[in-house]
Amino acid sequence: MTTDLGEAMSAYWGLRDICRKYSLAVDGLSDTEVAAWFIYLNRTGYNGLYRVNKQNVFNVPFGGYNNPTICDAEHLRTCSQALQGVDLRHACFDDVMADAKPGDFVYCDPPYVPISATSSFTSDTSDGFGIDEHRRLHDIALDLAKRGVNILISNSAAPAVLELYRDHPFHIETIAAARNIAANAASRGEVTELLIQNYQPVKPQIAGPLLAAGASLRHIRDTSC
Ligand SMILES: C[S@@+](CC[C@H](N)C(=O)[O-])C[C@H]1O[C@@H](n2cnc3c(N)ncnc32)[C@H](O)[C@@H]1O
Repeated sequence: MTTDLGEAMSAYWGLRDICRKYSLAVDGLSDTEVAAWFIYLNRTGYNGLYRVNKQNVFNVPFGGYNNPTICDAEHLRTCSQALQGVDLRHACFDDVMADAKPGDFVYCDPPYVPISATSSFTSDTSDGFGIDEHRRLHDIALDLAKRGVNILISNSAAPAVLELYRDHPFHIETIAAARNIAANAASRGEVTELLIQNYQPVKPQIAGPLLAAGASLRHIRDTSC
């Protein structure tokens, strides 16, 4: 650990590029090493961003923060406690959603449709999640809804999304969401997003206590998609 920003930057580049330098896959490290590597880069990289290039190599620039808390042991233990008995899977959404049973709750936070996209956009996106994937997600969600599964999907307020989910049984709610992962400070702040659900929206009972405790909606996302 160092309080000198120049030294911290060299340490960051060194760790960030360790796998590239030694032609190592991160997956070749032990679980503990991968966890330590990830936490260090997450706390010291730009805006806590996780981004990889086309070769799947982590390429986030140095954050330049003075004295960031890297190891928050109490927070890590709380997360560990919350994840006891949880089945975490790295899989495509169709595989995970196929296991949903009537009465289950499925939350999907897919890569968002670009805000400028119209209902006829067909372009591929850099993350490989284009309109075809959004249509497939819609069709699976519809199928699950018919089987009595409760679905919640978040997405941008792009016209293509409104068009896709305008059919029964989906309700669309517009929310103002705080965003602070943007390269340009001027584009951070509140953006309008959509919450799409197949059940009658229940106002703050679920999000209220979490939001009051300082969590943002983004922090309670992403259990399945
Ligand atoms: C909007 S982000 C979700 C962010 C997350 N809720 C969070 O708070 O960090 C979209 C996520 O979908 C994942 N994703 C992309 N393609 C996917 C696929 N085919 N199946 C499942 N997840 C996918 C991406 O890796 C990314 O983590």
